Amino acid sequence: MTNKEVIDAVVAHFKKEFAHESTGHDWYHIERVWKNAKTINANEGADTFVVELGALLHDIADHKFVDDADNESRKRTVSLLSKLGVSEGIIDQVLHIVLNCSFKGGIGENKMKSHEGLIVQDADRLDAIGAIGVARTFAFGGKFGNLLYDPEVAPSTFESAEEYRGKRTHTVNHFYEKLLLLKDGMNTETGKTMAKGRHEYMETFLTQFYGEWNGER
Ligand code: ADP
Ligand code: NI
Repeated sequence: MTNKEVIDAVVAHFKKEFAHESTGHDWYHIERVWKNAKTINANEGADTFVVELGALLHDIADHKFVDDADNESRKRTVSLLSKLGVSEGIIDQVLHIVLNCSFKGGIGENKMKSHEGLIVQDADRLDAIGAIGVARTFAFGGKFGNLLYDPEVAPSTFESAEEYRGKRTHTVNHFYEKLLLLKDGMNTETGKTMAKGRHEYMETFLTQFYGEWNGER
């Protein structure tokens, strides 16, 4: 199989697999991350095949919805890519990306080490901010039955990954515990530039939101 044929097969696989996801991790999230990653890599010049596969596979088993997600991610990645005849060397590089992409509260050292992985991580983070980020966040909050906003609950962050996962609060809080922090954690120069506009958009959104909440706009 050519690289292009492998990518096409992987795309077809995830379009089917993620068709009915509604938590913000649907096929179109994967597709946007893939597009972001290609945009970033056009400036970064890392290995395109690894970047594209990493982006397409990065949510192959989500730790929020799958028990023992690392093991499951490893199994699914090896199974999918080896069926398509992808070499062991490439599979190892993709596995490094899949296993280390997630934010998980953003606590501690970034375990992502490869240039390709840093690009995919930026691409994934970009999809959590900006207009798309706002939309995904309220979709997620709705799915879990959280309030849009509770003015009685002050914005808070968290001390540990467990606390981040375990906490149930209003959706606006997610901007303070995660979304507004992402801009400063971007890895690549291209990612930083893309994050800047999206970050400003979220700040504008929050100003407007509070204004409307208080009947001032
Ligand atoms: P990652 O997949 O990078 O670990 P998460 O799974 O924490 O990131 O979040 C993915 C997306 O799901 C977030 O960008 C956000 O839109 C949404 N999300 C996650 N946790 C919350 C939450 N507590 N409230 C609202 N949205 C959330
Ligand atoms: Ni993702």
